[in-house]
Amino acid sequence: MKRVYLSPPHVCGDEQSLVAEAFSTNWIAPVGPHVDAFEQEFEDVVGVPHAVALSSGTAALHLAMQVLGVGSGDHVICSSLTFSASANPICYERATPVFVDCDDTWTLDPSLVEEALKCEESAGRRAKAVVAVDLYGQCADYEPILEICQRYGVPLVEDAAEALGATYKGRPSGGFGRLGVFSFNGNKIITTSGGGMLVSHEKELVDRARFLATQARDPAPHYEHSQIGYNYRLSNVLAAIGRGQLKTLAQRLSARRGVFDRYVEGLRDLAGIRFMPEASYGRSNRWLTCLTIDPSLFGTDREAVRLALEAENIESRPVWKPMHMQPVFAGARMFGGAVSERFFRDGLCLPSGSSLSPDDQDRVISIVRGSCRA
Ligand SMILES: Cc1ncc(COP(=O)(O)O)c(C=O)c1O
Repeated sequence: MKRVYLSPPHVCGDEQSLVAEAFSTNWIAPVGPHVDAFEQEFEDVVGVPHAVALSSGTAALHLAMQVLGVGSGDHVICSSLTFSASANPICYERATPVFVDCDDTWTLDPSLVEEALKCEESAGRRAKAVVAVDLYGQCADYEPILEICQRYGVPLVEDAAEALGATYKGRPSGGFGRLGVFSFNGNKIITTSGGGMLVSHEKELVDRARFLATQARDPAPHYEHSQIGYNYRLSNVLAAIGRGQLKTLAQRLSARRGVFDRYVEGLRDLAGIRFMPEASYGRSNRWLTCLTIDPSLFGTDREAVRLALEAENIESRPVWKPMHMQPVFAGARMFGGAVSERFFRDGLCLPSGSSLSPDDQDRVISIVRGSCRA
């Protein structure tokens, strides 16, 4: 039986001809016309005026920390329910992550953000940044989060790595904070095999990130450096892939949402299954279809379902293990915790790629149905 992957790369447009063009013009380089065009086209799609294409979403988050001046002794508030790359760059800069739980939208609980910022203030500190994550393609609740951040004078970074094409109150993800981050890793809505984008309404922040990403080269005919830099730019060949992928974003979004709708159709009558809800304030891109399984109603637990799928060569994954439960962050301060702990215990991500065939999806549905012991 051929393997069904969670979220495999999906080539469905002009990627090959754009890459061929990069070869025929000899722009097999770390910069070039496809990089410039990709940045511009991306700015138009997300409605943010400045963007720099980078080698990964993690690099984008790292540069976000750098341009906000995060450093040793600083505290940065971060969603706990996320992939580790949301939090690791805080530690690259020797700052301390402070984790905050989610609410029933699976994204940052604004009241706990406030509690964390208040607590920092009573300790005589001001947190250096808040990192909000648009989890599994659903935006965080930005109106209250921004109001709180503004009141405490703390900049917001939006980790929209999983959320290209999602909206919050009609506006696209990525533009809510001072900086927004996207990933083009192989499992994302669009991929460049590996890559990322840092966006901002503030030109100076993006210019500074571009400078740092290009080895912090001072203007001079020779190599002159007055600061430590990074080699974080996206190559022209990979930007060509990204341009091809971006052209078909609308089809990709409707395919992902279609996959979600079909799972709901096929599984909603089963006792104990709850799909990740779509928050009333926005539209999720349904990057991954996630659900929780209540073993007391379903008759068996999340892990049994995952293993039943694996036995049929189908990849599914537990929901992210929250950062406050990770050994590497043992001892980190955490506000709340019970909500994300429950999502991790009971949550499962089902195969959700935009190229998932109806037949393969039917296999997934019938195995999940067959695992129900209610
Ligand atoms: C929420 C989140 N943040 C950051 C990243 C890091 O992106 P990248 O893999 O492009 O470095 C990812 C995924 O990979 C992610 O899911």
